[in-house]
Amino acid sequence: MKGLKIGNLTTRVPIIQGGMGVGISLSGLASAVANEGGVGVISCAGLGLIYKEKAKTYMESCIIGLREEIQKAKQKTNGIVGVNIMMALTNFGDMVKTAIAEKADVIFAGAGLPLDLPKYRTPECTTKLVPIVSSARAAKIICEKWKTLYNYLPDLVVVEGPKAGGHLGFKLNQINDPNYAIEELIPQVVNEVAIFEEKYNQKIPVVAAGGIYTGADMHKIMQLGAQGVQIASRFVTTTECDADIKFKNTYLTASDQEVEIIQSPVGMPGRALQGKFLENVKLGLTRPKSCPYNCLHTCDYKVVPYCIILALYNAYKGNMDKGYAFAGSNAYLSTKISTVKEVIDDILEKYNLAEANQTVLA
Ligand SMILES: Cc1cc2nc3c(=O)[nH]c(=O)nc-3n(C[C@H](O)[C@H](O)[C@H](O)COP(=O)(O)O)c2cc1C
Repeated sequence: MKGLKIGNLTTRVPIIQGGMGVGISLSGLASAVANEGGVGVISCAGLGLIYKEKAKTYMESCIIGLREEIQKAKQKTNGIVGVNIMMALTNFGDMVKTAIAEKADVIFAGAGLPLDLPKYRTPECTTKLVPIVSSARAAKIICEKWKTLYNYLPDLVVVEGPKAGGHLGFKLNQINDPNYAIEELIPQVVNEVAIFEEKYNQKIPVVAAGGIYTGADMHKIMQLGAQGVQIASRFVTTTECDADIKFKNTYLTASDQEVEIIQSPVGMPGRALQGKFLENVKLGLTRPKSCPYNCLHTCDYKVVPYCIILALYNAYKGNMDKGYAFAGSNAYLSTKISTVKEVIDDILEKYNLAEANQTVLA
């Protein structure tokens, strides 16, 4: 199994840990994954709540929080640490500038098309830029815009399918449509970026995400042309995951029936675990009275059924009655808390087994 190339960086194992907000992947999880040879990713979402004591405003606390999390991660690992920044965040620009100033190795930008991401690069910038897309069309638009406007191409592209946790880049009716399955999307995105690779003589690896849980899943996905995988839910039930144990326990006790699709205030569908809070949302009991944070472009507190940043922050702190856990379609498969090393070793072992079986069959 080859490492993953991201510009001039090479991972030991082709596994990226998907960014998980609010607070689920901070420096603890990110540095542990980086130490095992993958890419560890800190999520920016809601850092202003986690670091609320550090500054007077939410926006200032977000900047201080991101700076501290990157520095803490770098103290714990010499491996590759990235930052996940959602386009939907009102402070997207602040977060990108902070990540670049703190020399985050990679920025992963999703939940919208990050068309102007390269404009934040400074002359001394070493941070690699990676869009997260849900279609070949999105990959094409980004490559064209970045090359034309900034003479820059993505260092890697993550294609996230409809089995992912968190916000999904699909319409409700596309989520279970086989035409939008990750197995369909991978070759489409690989073929699309190949046009730019050839034209500009630059490698753009494609990594797949969404519902990948086992080494066998990873093997199957990489047979379709992906050069690596982005995995999130499987890392929630690790010792190093930054969430409260009560958050992790919701994964351990969930059945497949309890993984549900919700309509998020971000304006996209999302996948999460059922619970009391989401029941209350359906009953209209969670309406926000004000908006102290102004964290999302797409959210109007007078219209949305609840404040998502507060709900996700509550869940991160283990207050599961006042929030809920985002989760990928296979999150219910977890049965115990393991270390990140145990998870990655298990994935690699099962990947190698699948590879060996394929060789025997061939
Ligand atoms: C708890 C949780 C929080 C997430 N938060 C974010 C986020 O803040 N930004 C983002 O781009 N993706 C987010 N995601 C999506 C993941 O980064 C990842 O791409 C996806 O979940 C992969 O599918 P998997 O969980 O089945 O492995 C989140 C996923 C989960 C499970």
